[in-house]
Amino acid sequence: MSDFALPDALQRGIEESISEISDRDIAARTAALSGLYRARASSRIAVTTEADVAAYLVTRLPATYASTLAAMEAVKARMPDFAPRSVLDAGCGPGTASWAALECWDGIKQMTLLDENDAMLGAARKLLTFSGAEALRGAPIIKGGVPDHLPAQPHDLVVLAYALAELPEARWAGALSALWRGAASVLLIVEPGTPEGYRRILAARGFLLGLGARVAAPCPHDAACPLTAPDWCHFAQRLPRSRDHMRAKGGAVPFEDEKFSYLAVMRDLPLPLPSARILDRPKAEKAGLRFKLCTTDGLEDVLVPKRDKPAYRAVSRKKWGETLD
Ligand SMILES: C[S@@+](CC[C@H](N)C(=O)[O-])C[C@H]1O[C@@H](n2cnc3c(N)ncnc32)[C@H](O)[C@@H]1O
Repeated sequence: MSDFALPDALQRGIEESISEISDRDIAARTAALSGLYRARASSRIAVTTEADVAAYLVTRLPATYASTLAAMEAVKARMPDFAPRSVLDAGCGPGTASWAALECWDGIKQMTLLDENDAMLGAARKLLTFSGAEALRGAPIIKGGVPDHLPAQPHDLVVLAYALAELPEARWAGALSALWRGAASVLLIVEPGTPEGYRRILAARGFLLGLGARVAAPCPHDAACPLTAPDWCHFAQRLPRSRDHMRAKGGAVPFEDEKFSYLAVMRDLPLPLPSARILDRPKAEKAGLRFKLCTTDGLEDVLVPKRDKPAYRAVSRKKWGETLD
């Protein structure tokens, strides 16, 4: 399993892409970018110049890469026989999800990237040249919007990472229908792990189940989500911070935890079903390990006692986001 650090080739590509931009500019644009994204501005507003892109590459791409890869790893664990040969990265930005897919699955032969933002696409185009994978180096890049410019031919895996938030709600149904039509096997949607991000994932989930999709992850069932406000379903992925990131954000610790919500839906239901998904960091108590679980019967709070040695051993290394089978 990956340590969720960027592949060396992508890291090199980023360093090269930002080499002409001063640390001061990157830091200033990083602050502006965070403020704009927090205020729900779309990338169309937030990312327009090379310095904006540099700020995104240094401070956001590593985190969206890590969370998207974590979501893909969850799909892979649930669907070990799924081996995508073609991938569509919709709302690709600098191509983040494409790099994550290549890290997760061998055997990808064809990738397509699509975005409406010229500045992001310029970065994606440059970064691709650093990849050793022909599928990525030769990937067609489509300048256009979801859903109007989606390619006609289906892809085994379609990914929409951190982009649903940027689509007006009135366009979600059209966009999700088109993305699902374009997914030969799996559609993966990743959003920030905020209550708002979860709300969008939940809306997408209801809509896609209505189209006949089945949940691949994270839910171990297709029933209604058992969580109630103010609780929300989200996960966290730890990733290393680069020196450039620490300079841009002034961070003191060499890692960060990216919170994310996600949904993967599939066309076929592989067996076996997981019995439960761990919804929070397992809590070490004197008597044992306590888990918050989403199960086929709803939410469960389970203590695995230390005195039950085989059961305790089986779960002692389990992490937030994994399944408990
Ligand atoms: C926050 S960035 C995420 C980029 C990348 N997927 C990632 O995870 O790092 C959102 C991206 O979605 C793109 N986007 C927003 N609305 C879009 C639409 N309707 N069609 C295509 N791309 C869109 C933006 O241009 C931007 O590049």
